Amino acid sequence: MKAICYISNFSKGLSKNDIDKLIYNVNKKNKIQDVTGLLIIKNKHFFQILEGEEEKADNLYKKIKTDSRHTGVIKLLDTKIEGRLFKDYNSGEFEVFQKFSDMKKLYLYFNWMKNADYMPADELIELTTNFLKNNK
Ligand SMILES: Cc1cc2nc3c(=O)[nH]c(=O)nc-3n(C[C@H](O)[C@H](O)[C@H](O)COP(=O)(O)O)c2cc1C
Repeated sequence: MKAICYISNFSKGLSKNDIDKLIYNVNKKNKIQDVTGLLIIKNKHFFQILEGEEEKADNLYKKIKTDSRHTGVIKLLDTKIEGRLFKDYNSGEFEVFQKFSDMKKLYLYFNWMKNADYMPADELIELTTNFLKNNK
């Protein structure tokens, strides 16, 4: 099992319709692939955490990295994990956020996770909260 986290920028001309299509596909595919985590879309940036079986996560990241819908992909974390941070989040389903009003649930979950004995939780929580702080 592994977790991968990255940040990127919208490609020029990416429309609302493109994003809606992307969200629809991401939700559908990640369910099939048993990929958990989140995708935050804010201020023309993407921030994503992917958790899943090692080979699946690596292959998915390879595809994502070369996707023309975004540029400047920077990997922030790539680490083996013993269990999923987002296993119990959103009924175990991948989630895509675009609005801050949707993020209360995430913060509540993070507060709860901070007490869990789970290695990269602190780092993933810090990366996510930093992204959100810088993209209000
Ligand atoms: C910002 C961003 C995030 C993405 N996240 C995922 C994802 O979580 N899961 C996924 O299957 N595809 C994701 N994709 C789409 C992949 O890059 C790729 O288009 C998709 O997996 C289709 O692959 P296929 O051609 O093998 O069907 C994302 C693309 C972008 C631009």
